[in-house]
This record gives sequence, C-alpha cells and structure tokens, in this order.
Amino acid sequence: MKPKLRNANITAVGKYLPKNILTNADLEKMVDTNDEWIRTRTGIQERRIVDKGEASVEMSVNAIQQILDSRNLDPTEIDAIIVGTVTPDMLFPSCAALIQHRIGATNAWGYDLSAACSGFIFALQSGSALIESGQCEKVLIVGVDTMSSILDYEDRNTCILFGDGAGAVLLEPSEEYGVIDAIMRVDGGGGDYLKMPAGGSLHRASHETVDKKMHYIQQDGRTVYKFAVKGMADISYEVASRNNLTNDDIDLFIPHQANKRIIDAAAKRLGLPDEKVLINISKYANTTAGTIPIGIVEAVETKRLKKGDNLILASFGAGFTWGATYIKWGMDS
Ligand code: UT7
Repeated sequence: MKPKLRNANITAVGKYLPKNILTNADLEKMVDTNDEWIRTRTGIQERRIVDKGEASVEMSVNAIQQILDSRNLDPTEIDAIIVGTVTPDMLFPSCAALIQHRIGATNAWGYDLSAACSGFIFALQSGSALIESGQCEKVLIVGVDTMSSILDYEDRNTCILFGDGAGAVLLEPSEEYGVIDAIMRVDGGGGDYLKMPAGGSLHRASHETVDKKMHYIQQDGRTVYKFAVKGMADISYEVASRNNLTNDDIDLFIPHQANKRIIDAAAKRLGLPDEKVLINISKYANTTAGTIPIGIVEAVETKRLKKGDNLILASFGAGFTWGATYIKWGMDS
C-alpha cells in the first residue's frame, strides 16, 4: 500500500429516522408471522417507515441538516456528496444532485453509489480517497434507504426484515485521525440470491413485471445468511489483524444490522464482549445503507466513542458486496 498524504477524518455526523413505527405486532396482522419468530431469528422488534411523499432525498437532507447545524457549516464549503443507496428517489437524477440543490451546496459535485448494504462503507472508501489525494477538503457521505418502497408486504420472508432511515458523516483531512485502512470486496456470483429484478434496463417496467412482483426485493435468506456470517466475520478479522489490532485494542465494532445472529458471529470472531458491539437492529431493522451511519451517530450521541478510539465498521449485502473499515476515531466527545 502506498503511504497516504493525509487521512479522511469523520468530523460531524447526523441521522434521520422516520417517526412512523411498524412493530412486529403490526406485521402479525399483515402476514403469517409472529413476534417471537421475528425476535429470535433476527433480533428485530420494530422498524421505521416513511410518510407518504417522504423518500431517500428528504431523509438524507434531514440527516445532513444536523451536520450543517452542529458545525454551523456553510453548504458552499462542501466539495462533494456521495450517496450510498439502492432506493434513490428515481433512477436519475441522482440523490446526490437533488441533495446538492436542496442544501445549497453550490460548489459540490457528487454521485450515487449502488452497493446495497455495503453502500455506506463503499461510499466512505470513495470519499476518503478524495480527501486523501488532496482533491477535496469537505466531503459528505450519506447512507440512506427507503426499503419500504421496494418491499412486498405480502411476503413474510422479506417484509419483516427491513426499515427506512438515513445517516450522514462529514469527512475532512487529518494527519492523525480518520480512516486508517479498509478492505472491500464484490462477488457478482451471489447476485441471484438477493435482488430486485425489474426497474432496470433488462426487465423493462410493464404490466407483466408488476404482476410478477419483480419490482420488489427477492431473497434466498438461508443462502445469504450463510455467506453473510462468514463474509462479515472474516473481513472484520482481516482488517483488524493486518493492523495488529487485538480484541483489547478494538474499542467499538459497528456492524451492518441485518440479523443479530450474523452480528454475534462477527463479534465472536473478533473476540469482542457485548459492550464493544453496537446493536440497534431491534429498533430500526435493516435500513440497508443506513445501518452503519445511523449506528455511528448513536455511538456519538451515547458517548460510546471517544477521540483516539479504534473503531471497526463492517458490512455484507446484495451483490454480493462486503467490507470492513478501520477508523482511528477523531471527533471530540
Ligand atoms: O442485509 C442484506 C443481507 N441480508 C441478510 O443478511 C439476511 C440473511 N438471512 C437471514 O437473516 C435469515 O436467513 C432470515 C432471517 C431471512 C431467515 O431466518 P432462517 O433462520 O434462515 O429461516 P429460514 O429461511 O430457514 O426459514 C425457517 C422457517 C421456514 O419454514 P419451514 O420451511 O421450515 O417450514 C420459513 O418458511 O421459517 C419460516 N419463515 C417464517 N415464519 C414466520 C420465514 N419467514 C417467516 C416469518 N415468520 N416472517
């Protein structure tokens, strides 16, 4: 690896969760499921769902507003906006462009990045490169998904698993703190196991695609589970060990929140006790690209992160996409 000129440091954070709560009890009235099954198989108790008319751009703007307010930041100072999402408001224009306009970031460029549950850490990696190379001084990274817009609420295999939400971070240069290392992977061989088949250029929108429910998420849960357990645990261990971090050295692990059992497996592989693992899946379910930045904001709000802490982020999702990031935390608590 070439030495970096400087690190990309997270210097401000924001999140947004819609106010509407959909509980397991609510879902019992919609599909053949029950609270006990959902809790024991996934760890989920409730999830947030957008209002009509509310979508990914709106949620992102709300999350970013917290960043702008907390730092009293002039949006014209933002150089770039990168949005990890698989549920943009529309295929184009990008969420990044619409967000740029909404917040008045008149000097920014930006783009959306499609990596499903790994959307945030892939976007963080891309944004870090812009900071590390000296091309940008201030980059907004957003992880957002409006999963309720692509869920079939008659399919108990998928509708219980996901929720809506957004998180965002501001990256700025630092000599000492920030993203130290990351390992990212894709394997399209897993593409068939978790997908939304229609809505792109292959299966054009038609009465047939709608009738066949091809605009909804389809998942072979058991297969994805097997790959996710191994994928997320192995890559978390790999990034920790290549930076000589033992379980004692790791202060906090913020994994993607798809299933509590997948999180537990990764935490066990790292040898971490419960207090070093952020788990909020019970409240928000799987918000896809939203889970990790929402987790980061919660860790900041609850003072679970202090300057100098070693933080590991990790994810596994559709594609397959997966990765882990090692951050030397650099925000004052
Ligand atoms: O973030 C993106 C990546 N996605 C993931 O990481 C998700 C990975 N997969 C999973 O988390 C798990 O596979 C699920 C939570 C989706 C399913 O848990 P599982 O332990 O793998 O259950 P299963 O799919 O093996 O199903 C067990 C049984 C089945 O019944 P039979 O065939 O044994 O009679 C299902 O039909 O549970 C049934 N089932 C349900 N029962 C009640 C499936 N969904 C439900 C439900 N309520 N909602």
